[in-house]
Amino acid sequence: MITDPSKPTIVVLGSINMDLVTTTEHRPQPGETVLGTGFTMVPGGKGANQAIAAQRAGGRVEFLGAVGDDVFAGELRGVLRDSGVAIGRLRTVTGPSGIAAIVVDSSGENSIIVVGGANATMTALTDDDLAVIASADILLCQLEIPVGAVAAAVTHASANATVVMLNPSPAQHLPSDLWAHVDVAVVNSGEAKDLGHDLDPVAHLVVTHGAAGAHYRGPGGRELSQPSPQVDVVDTTGAGDTFTGALATAWHRGPEQALAWASTAGALATTRLGASTSIPTHEQITAAIEHGD
Ligand code: RIB
Repeated sequence: MITDPSKPTIVVLGSINMDLVTTTEHRPQPGETVLGTGFTMVPGGKGANQAIAAQRAGGRVEFLGAVGDDVFAGELRGVLRDSGVAIGRLRTVTGPSGIAAIVVDSSGENSIIVVGGANATMTALTDDDLAVIASADILLCQLEIPVGAVAAAVTHASANATVVMLNPSPAQHLPSDLWAHVDVAVVNSGEAKDLGHDLDPVAHLVVTHGAAGAHYRGPGGRELSQPSPQVDVVDTTGAGDTFTGALATAWHRGPEQALAWASTAGALATTRLGASTSIPTHEQITAAIEHGD
Protein backbone atom coordinates (compact mmCIF):
# COMPACT_ATOMS: atom_id res chain seq x y z
CA MET A 1 0.00 0.00 0.00
CA ILE A 2 1.12 3.56 -0.67
CA THR A 3 2.27 4.99 2.67
CA ASP A 4 3.17 8.51 1.48
CA PRO A 5 1.65 9.10 -1.95
CA SER A 6 3.90 12.05 -2.70
CA LYS A 7 7.03 9.88 -2.30
CA PRO A 8 6.30 6.21 -2.94
CA THR A 9 8.86 3.65 -1.77
CA ILE A 10 10.13 1.68 -4.74
CA VAL A 11 12.39 -1.37 -4.69
CA VAL A 12 14.19 -1.94 -7.96
CA LEU A 13 15.56 -5.43 -8.49
CA GLY A 14 17.79 -5.57 -11.54
CA SER A 15 20.99 -5.05 -13.45
CA ILE A 16 23.73 -2.47 -13.28
CA ASN A 17 26.26 -2.18 -16.13
CA MET A 18 29.10 0.00 -17.29
CA ASP A 19 27.98 1.18 -20.75
CA LEU A 20 30.83 1.35 -23.29
CA VAL A 21 29.34 3.80 -25.76
CA THR A 22 30.61 4.44 -29.28
CA THR A 23 29.04 7.04 -31.55
CA THR A 24 29.08 6.67 -35.33
CA GLU A 25 27.33 7.99 -38.45
CA HIS A 26 25.60 4.68 -39.10
CA ARG A 27 25.63 1.37 -37.22
CA PRO A 28 27.67 -1.34 -38.97
CA GLN A 29 25.97 -4.01 -41.08
CA PRO A 30 27.11 -7.64 -40.65
CA GLY A 31 30.75 -7.86 -41.82
CA GLU A 32 31.10 -4.07 -42.12
CA THR A 33 33.67 -1.89 -40.30
CA VAL A 34 32.74 1.75 -39.76
CA LEU A 35 34.70 4.66 -38.32
CA GLY A 36 33.43 5.97 -35.00
CA THR A 37 33.12 9.61 -33.97
CA GLY A 38 33.45 9.20 -30.19
CA PHE A 39 33.72 6.89 -27.20
CA THR A 40 32.62 7.29 -23.59
CA MET A 41 31.88 5.12 -20.55
CA VAL A 42 28.63 5.80 -18.70
CA PRO A 43 27.00 3.83 -15.85
CA GLY A 44 23.83 2.12 -17.04
CA GLY A 45 21.94 -1.15 -16.90
CA LYS A 46 18.17 -1.30 -17.06
CA GLY A 47 17.83 -1.83 -13.30
CA ALA A 48 20.14 1.00 -12.30
CA ASN A 49 18.70 3.37 -14.91
CA GLN A 50 15.16 2.74 -13.68
CA ALA A 51 16.22 3.11 -10.04
CA ILE A 52 17.91 6.46 -10.74
CA ALA A 53 14.97 7.62 -12.86
CA ALA A 54 12.47 6.75 -10.12
CA GLN A 55 14.58 8.47 -7.45
CA ARG A 56 15.22 11.62 -9.51
CA ALA A 57 11.51 11.77 -10.44
CA GLY A 58 10.58 11.90 -6.75
CA GLY A 59 10.50 8.35 -5.38
CA ARG A 60 12.38 6.84 -2.44
CA VAL A 61 14.28 4.00 -4.06
CA GLU A 62 16.27 1.02 -2.85
CA PHE A 63 18.29 -1.00 -5.37
CA LEU A 64 18.82 -4.77 -5.17
CA GLY A 65 21.56 -5.99 -7.49
CA ALA A 66 25.24 -6.84 -7.77
CA VAL A 67 28.51 -5.32 -8.96
CA GLY A 68 31.83 -7.13 -9.40
CA ASP A 69 35.17 -6.39 -7.74
CA ASP A 70 36.67 -4.82 -10.87
CA VAL A 71 37.67 -1.32 -11.96
CA PHE A 72 34.04 -0.36 -12.80
CA ALA A 73 32.49 -1.29 -9.44
CA GLY A 74 33.27 1.95 -7.60
CA GLU A 75 31.76 4.19 -10.26
CA LEU A 76 28.69 1.97 -10.56
CA ARG A 77 28.07 2.12 -6.80
CA GLY A 78 28.77 5.85 -6.86
CA VAL A 79 26.20 6.77 -9.47
CA LEU A 80 23.41 5.12 -7.47
CA ARG A 81 24.60 6.61 -4.17
CA ASP A 82 25.05 10.11 -5.62
CA SER A 83 21.55 9.97 -7.10
CA GLY A 84 20.13 9.21 -3.64
CA VAL A 85 19.28 5.56 -4.28
CA ALA A 86 19.71 3.34 -1.18
CA ILE A 87 22.45 0.76 -1.83
CA GLY A 88 22.74 -0.98 1.53
CA ARG A 89 21.83 -4.32 -0.06
CA LEU A 90 23.86 -3.90 -3.26
CA ARG A 91 26.13 -6.96 -3.40
CA THR A 92 29.80 -7.05 -4.37
CA VAL A 93 30.81 -10.38 -5.90
CA THR A 94 34.09 -11.76 -7.20
CA GLY A 95 34.58 -11.17 -10.93
CA PRO A 96 33.62 -8.55 -13.51
CA SER A 97 30.72 -6.12 -13.29
CA GLY A 98 28.10 -6.17 -16.03
CA ILE A 99 28.94 -4.26 -19.19
CA ALA A 100 26.99 -3.12 -22.26
CA ALA A 101 28.64 -2.48 -25.63
CA ILE A 102 26.51 0.25 -27.21
CA VAL A 103 26.64 1.82 -30.68
CA VAL A 104 24.69 5.07 -31.17
CA ASP A 105 24.14 6.38 -34.71
CA SER A 106 23.59 9.95 -35.89
CA SER A 107 19.81 9.60 -35.60
CA GLY A 108 20.18 8.68 -31.91
CA GLU A 109 19.17 5.03 -32.41
CA ASN A 110 21.28 2.35 -30.75
CA SER A 111 22.31 -1.30 -30.80
CA ILE A 112 23.25 -2.92 -27.48
CA ILE A 113 25.01 -6.11 -26.38
CA VAL A 114 24.89 -6.82 -22.63
CA VAL A 115 27.37 -9.16 -20.90
CA GLY A 116 25.85 -9.94 -17.50
CA GLY A 117 28.93 -10.37 -15.29
CA ALA A 118 27.93 -9.80 -11.65
CA ASN A 119 24.27 -9.44 -12.66
CA ALA A 120 24.23 -13.15 -13.49
CA THR A 121 24.97 -14.01 -9.85
CA MET A 122 21.59 -12.60 -8.76
CA THR A 123 20.02 -16.05 -8.69
CA ALA A 124 18.40 -15.88 -5.25
CA LEU A 125 17.12 -13.32 -2.76
CA THR A 126 17.94 -13.13 0.95
CA ASP A 127 15.35 -12.84 3.72
CA ASP A 128 16.35 -9.17 4.07
CA ASP A 129 15.74 -8.59 0.34
CA LEU A 130 12.30 -10.16 0.65
CA ALA A 131 11.47 -8.07 3.73
CA VAL A 132 12.32 -4.85 1.86
CA ILE A 133 10.12 -5.93 -1.05
CA ALA A 134 7.21 -6.76 1.27
CA SER A 135 7.27 -3.33 2.90
CA ALA A 136 7.64 -1.28 -0.32
CA ASP A 137 4.84 0.40 -2.25
CA ILE A 138 6.15 -0.82 -5.62
CA LEU A 139 8.50 -3.56 -6.83
CA LEU A 140 10.07 -2.74 -10.21
CA CYS A 141 11.94 -5.45 -12.17
CA GLN A 142 13.39 -6.10 -15.62
CA LEU A 143 14.91 -9.24 -17.16
CA GLU A 144 18.67 -8.55 -17.20
CA ILE A 145 19.16 -10.74 -14.11
CA PRO A 146 18.25 -14.44 -13.75
CA VAL A 147 14.50 -15.02 -14.04
CA GLY A 148 14.37 -17.16 -10.87
CA ALA A 149 15.14 -14.16 -8.65
CA VAL A 150 12.61 -12.01 -10.52
CA ALA A 151 9.97 -14.72 -10.10
CA ALA A 152 10.66 -15.00 -6.35
CA ALA A 153 10.46 -11.22 -5.92
CA VAL A 154 7.25 -10.89 -7.95
CA THR A 155 5.51 -13.70 -6.09
CA HIS A 156 6.55 -12.34 -2.70
CA ALA A 157 5.52 -8.78 -3.59
CA SER A 158 2.15 -9.94 -4.83
CA ALA A 159 1.53 -11.91 -1.60
CA ASN A 160 2.33 -8.77 0.44
CA ALA A 161 0.23 -6.22 -1.48
CA THR A 162 3.28 -4.54 -3.02
CA VAL A 163 2.40 -3.32 -6.52
CA VAL A 164 4.39 -5.32 -9.10
CA MET A 165 5.68 -3.38 -12.12
CA LEU A 166 7.61 -5.45 -14.67
CA ASN A 167 9.54 -4.22 -17.68
CA PRO A 168 10.17 -7.61 -19.37
CA SER A 169 13.26 -6.48 -21.23
CA PRO A 170 15.13 -8.10 -22.91
CA ALA A 171 11.90 -9.88 -23.84
CA GLN A 172 11.62 -13.53 -22.92
CA HIS A 173 8.78 -15.89 -22.19
CA LEU A 174 8.11 -16.36 -18.47
CA PRO A 175 6.19 -19.06 -16.61
CA SER A 176 2.52 -18.32 -17.40
CA ASP A 177 1.44 -18.18 -13.74
CA LEU A 178 3.96 -15.38 -13.09
CA TRP A 179 2.16 -12.90 -15.36
CA ALA A 180 -0.94 -13.13 -13.17
CA HIS A 181 1.09 -11.54 -10.33
CA VAL A 182 2.17 -8.58 -12.48
CA ASP A 183 0.04 -5.48 -11.86
CA VAL A 184 1.71 -3.24 -14.46
CA ALA A 185 3.78 -4.32 -17.48
CA VAL A 186 5.78 -1.74 -19.45
CA VAL A 187 7.01 -2.86 -22.88
CA ASN A 188 8.13 -1.22 -26.09
CA SER A 189 6.31 -2.05 -29.30
CA GLY A 190 8.87 -4.71 -30.30
CA GLU A 191 8.59 -6.44 -26.93
CA ALA A 192 4.79 -6.28 -27.09
CA LYS A 193 4.95 -8.10 -30.42
CA ASP A 194 7.44 -10.71 -29.13
CA LEU A 195 5.43 -11.43 -25.97
CA GLY A 196 1.99 -11.34 -27.63
CA HIS A 197 -0.69 -13.10 -25.56
CA ASP A 198 1.73 -13.65 -22.63
CA LEU A 199 0.71 -10.14 -21.60
CA ASP A 200 -3.05 -10.86 -21.54
CA PRO A 201 -3.28 -11.61 -17.77
CA VAL A 202 -1.60 -8.31 -16.82
CA ALA A 203 -4.08 -5.81 -15.35
CA HIS A 204 -2.36 -2.65 -16.62
CA LEU A 205 -0.34 -2.75 -19.85
CA VAL A 206 1.73 0.22 -21.07
CA VAL A 207 3.24 0.01 -24.55
CA THR A 208 5.79 2.65 -25.55
CA HIS A 209 6.23 3.67 -29.19
CA GLY A 210 9.25 6.00 -28.97
CA ALA A 211 8.55 9.44 -30.43
CA ALA A 212 5.01 8.28 -31.31
CA GLY A 213 4.07 8.19 -27.61
CA ALA A 214 2.62 5.47 -25.39
CA HIS A 215 -0.59 3.47 -25.15
CA TYR A 216 -2.33 2.15 -22.02
CA ARG A 217 -4.81 -0.72 -21.69
CA GLY A 218 -6.38 -1.26 -18.26
CA PRO A 219 -9.23 -2.91 -16.37
CA GLY A 220 -12.71 -2.69 -17.87
CA GLY A 221 -11.31 -2.14 -21.35
CA ARG A 222 -10.03 1.34 -20.46
CA GLU A 223 -7.60 2.68 -23.09
CA LEU A 224 -5.46 5.81 -23.17
CA SER A 225 -3.08 7.25 -25.75
CA GLN A 226 -0.30 9.56 -24.58
CA PRO A 227 1.61 11.59 -27.17
CA SER A 228 5.33 12.15 -26.61
CA PRO A 229 6.76 15.67 -26.40
CA GLN A 230 8.75 16.44 -29.55
CA VAL A 231 12.44 17.00 -28.77
CA ASP A 232 15.77 16.99 -30.59
CA VAL A 233 16.99 13.42 -30.17
CA VAL A 234 20.68 12.84 -29.39
CA ASP A 235 20.57 9.29 -27.96
CA THR A 236 17.60 7.07 -27.14
CA THR A 237 19.64 4.85 -24.75
CA GLY A 238 17.91 4.68 -21.37
CA ALA A 239 14.80 6.59 -22.52
CA GLY A 240 12.56 3.57 -21.95
CA ASP A 241 14.14 3.05 -18.53
CA THR A 242 13.56 6.68 -17.65
CA PHE A 243 9.93 6.39 -18.76
CA THR A 244 9.48 3.28 -16.60
CA GLY A 245 11.15 4.68 -13.47
CA ALA A 246 9.17 7.91 -13.72
CA LEU A 247 5.97 5.92 -14.29
CA ALA A 248 6.59 4.06 -11.03
CA THR A 249 6.91 7.29 -9.03
CA ALA A 250 3.67 8.67 -10.44
CA TRP A 251 1.64 5.46 -10.59
CA HIS A 252 -0.42 6.36 -7.48
CA ARG A 253 -1.72 9.43 -9.40
CA GLY A 254 -3.52 7.17 -11.86
CA PRO A 255 -2.59 5.98 -15.36
CA GLU A 256 -3.43 9.23 -17.14
CA GLN A 257 -1.19 11.45 -15.05
CA ALA A 258 1.48 8.78 -14.68
CA LEU A 259 1.75 8.34 -18.46
CA ALA A 260 1.99 12.09 -19.04
CA TRP A 261 4.74 12.39 -16.40
CA ALA A 262 6.65 9.37 -17.72
CA SER A 263 6.42 10.50 -21.36
CA THR A 264 7.97 13.86 -20.55
CA ALA A 265 10.74 12.21 -18.51
CA GLY A 266 11.47 9.70 -21.30
CA ALA A 267 11.56 12.40 -23.98
CA LEU A 268 13.97 14.53 -21.93
CA ALA A 269 16.27 11.51 -21.57
CA THR A 270 16.73 11.36 -25.35
CA THR A 271 18.18 14.87 -25.50
CA ARG A 272 21.56 13.91 -23.99
CA LEU A 273 24.12 11.18 -24.61
CA GLY A 274 24.25 8.17 -22.30
CA ALA A 275 21.90 6.33 -19.97
CA SER A 276 22.31 7.49 -16.33
CA THR A 277 23.76 10.81 -17.52
CA SER A 278 20.58 11.74 -19.37
CA ILE A 279 17.94 11.04 -16.70
CA PRO A 280 16.03 14.21 -15.71
CA THR A 281 15.18 15.38 -12.19
CA HIS A 282 11.73 16.05 -10.74
CA GLU A 283 12.29 19.78 -11.29
CA GLN A 284 13.32 19.30 -14.93
CA ILE A 285 10.27 17.15 -15.66
CA THR A 286 7.98 19.64 -13.93
CA ALA A 287 9.51 22.57 -15.84
CA ALA A 288 9.12 20.78 -19.19
CA ILE A 289 5.46 20.00 -18.49
CA GLU A 290 4.76 23.59 -17.42
CA HIS A 291 6.61 24.85 -20.49
CA GLY A 292 4.40 22.63 -22.66
CA ASP A 293 7.30 20.59 -24.12
O1 RIB B 1 18.07 0.26 -21.56
C1 RIB B 1 19.38 0.77 -21.73
C2 RIB B 1 20.34 -0.08 -20.99
O2 RIB B 1 20.35 -1.38 -21.57
C3 RIB B 1 21.78 0.37 -21.05
O3 RIB B 1 22.12 1.26 -20.03
C4 RIB B 1 22.56 -0.94 -21.03
O4 RIB B 1 23.36 -1.11 -19.91
C5 RIB B 1 21.50 -2.03 -21.15
O5 RIB B 1 21.20 -2.60 -19.93
